[in-house]
Amino acid sequence: MTQINEPAVGRRRFLTGMTGALAAGSMIQVSAENGALAAQSAKLPKPGEFPVRVIASDNGLEATRRAYDLIQQGADVLDACIAGVNIVEDDPNDMTVGYGGLPNEDGVVELDAAVMHGPTHRAGSVAALQKIKNPSKVAKLVMEQTDHVLLVGEGALKFARAHGFKEEDLLTEKARKIWLYWRQKRDQDDDWIEPPDELLDPEVKKYFKRPTGTIHCAAIDARGDISCTTTTSGLAFKLAGRVGDSPIVGAGLYVDNAVGSCGSTGRGEANLLNLSSSTAVGLMRAGRSPKDAGLEMLRRIAANTVPRLCDKDGRPNYDLTFYLIAKNGDYAAVSLWGPAKFAITDAKGTRHEASVSLYERAAK
Ligand code: GLY
Repeated sequence: MTQINEPAVGRRRFLTGMTGALAAGSMIQVSAENGALAAQSAKLPKPGEFPVRVIASDNGLEATRRAYDLIQQGADVLDACIAGVNIVEDDPNDMTVGYGGLPNEDGVVELDAAVMHGPTHRAGSVAALQKIKNPSKVAKLVMEQTDHVLLVGEGALKFARAHGFKEEDLLTEKARKIWLYWRQKRDQDDDWIEPPDELLDPEVKKYFKRPTGTIHCAAIDARGDISCTTTTSGLAFKLAGRVGDSPIVGAGLYVDNAVGSCGSTGRGEANLLNLSSSTAVGLMRAGRSPKDAGLEMLRRIAANTVPRLCDKDGRPNYDLTFYLIAKNGDYAAVSLWGPAKFAITDAKGTRHEASVSLYERAAK
């Protein structure tokens, strides 16, 4: 017995020692990160003197303007971001968000959205929600009036219905025509026939390549409180029930009110596989600037991309952008592929600025 047990005890001691060493390693890392955070915190403006700033994806110019105005009028920083993205959710001409968003492969519009409130570190989200054009508002109610974080599909719709949201057909005529054309030309081996060119609306032809689109909006107020929201109709013509990164806290958006926020637009699967937004905020906690944290995430994602999603030079053949705000108000948008731009409103006004890119598209 003794002879059999002794090696086991020895192994247990060895494992305990290993665990101790690993724990010591992670404690060193945590204390280095806390040291970096303490150094950043020491240099912050006084409450009331933080630079008020709202950033968004490039389709969010008016969203940043509205959110900024509301913050200046005293609105909560998350309420302001939500009011901003509601403009785009309501807009039938933005085919990547809310009403007018492109549908799934069955021709049904399914929306994803999440909100995260920095000051209380709470979040709410909905996924694969049909018939409700403002999923960001439903996500906020999930945050405030349930003990949950994420509701999906029929459950999310029942919850929205209970709160009095109006159900409507979100598929516009333009979105239906684009879906129909995609369906007709998808497969040579079925009974749909592609229409001749002269019968095709030029607007429809623009969508020959499957678009991803979304709006992310993030803000910091004068107290230094940070919040953000992401809302989308997701990947056009996705499988029914597909959920992207936008409603997944940590992937499509994340806020740590002591550090900053990150949110994203582009290929959601890449963010789900890399838990990008919370990882980027972690990099800022460890002392990286918003730009450096975002670029580091893009490099990691590029390195993790499978060959079928790479071009002949081994670079991702999809796009992805991060929008980051640090606690001191510094900000950046970083994209896999440039040139790209993002929207911003602050004391200097409302404008587009250039994103920093990892790769540049060849000029046409
Ligand atoms: N990032 C939006 C989506 O992939 O659904």
